[in-house]
Amino acid sequence: MSRYAYVNGRYLPFRDAKIHIEDRGYQFADGVYEVCEVRAGRLIDERRHFERLKRSLTETRIRMPMSPRALGVVLREVVARNRIGYGVVYLQISRGVARRDPAFPGPEVAPTVVATARPLNMMRNEALAARGIAVISVPDNRWGRVDIKTVGLLPNVLARQAAIDQGARDAWFVDKDGIVTEAASANAWIVAPDGILVTRHADRAILRGITRAVVLDAVKAQGLTVAERGFTLQEAYGAREAFETSATQIVMPVVRIDGHTIGDGKPGPVAIALRREFHRYAETG
Ligand code: PDD
Repeated sequence: MSRYAYVNGRYLPFRDAKIHIEDRGYQFADGVYEVCEVRAGRLIDERRHFERLKRSLTETRIRMPMSPRALGVVLREVVARNRIGYGVVYLQISRGVARRDPAFPGPEVAPTVVATARPLNMMRNEALAARGIAVISVPDNRWGRVDIKTVGLLPNVLARQAAIDQGARDAWFVDKDGIVTEAASANAWIVAPDGILVTRHADRAILRGITRAVVLDAVKAQGLTVAERGFTLQEAYGAREAFETSATQIVMPVVRIDGHTIGDGKPGPVAIALRREFHRYAETG
């Protein structure tokens, strides 16, 4: 089946979907992005993803290229043209194409807008979640504004590859005080020995995940106790359960951290329940 991408106002066959070499996304990672889960062809939590997108654009001073409503139409069209039932849709907005100069280009330069979608394999994801994943820890060497969802992801790329090279699936970033910030492309959680759920407070040192926000709603509605605070790697090693959250994985149990078995080495009941219940709390567009 042919794939289509949206590029600056046009829906193009994938092979024709191209960006200029002087695009600032390519030259400087001068762009932001969003990723939404798609279920039964519908966007999950579109409203919250667009709120975060608006914030990313404001913080980077990139112009909103069109209204959220129009962007929503584009995303849905890309999902439909690619016949995505279950998958993800990506939206990237860069500061546009201009002669290479770090200073902003003039107002005549329009942002570049790209949207793509791809299917995910539900069976494979469920099988992975049923086993749980192994993660490694890596020093958090990112810049001080990772609350902005920029396309500048080189530390995340290197962290993920380091995990794979060591036979793990993902990496958790640890700051200079030994506190786990987040995963390479997900938020990190533990269930402490006293049963309290812990995830790092959201400031400029983590991305405020939309999945994280929905899981917080779910745990509060279910009367579970949650603490938004930093936790150390040592606490994580001794946790009852660990998991990570993102739009592409929803709730993914973590069963090994740096070779330490978490709990009994199997996905824990809290993570399993949150994964099962998640879409009752998410918004379906
Ligand atoms: N990543 N932290 C980081 C560094 C991320 O890149 C992501 C998402 C998250 C979770 O955010 P959300 O729940 O809104 O997906 C946390 C996406 C999925 C990606 O880069 O593909």
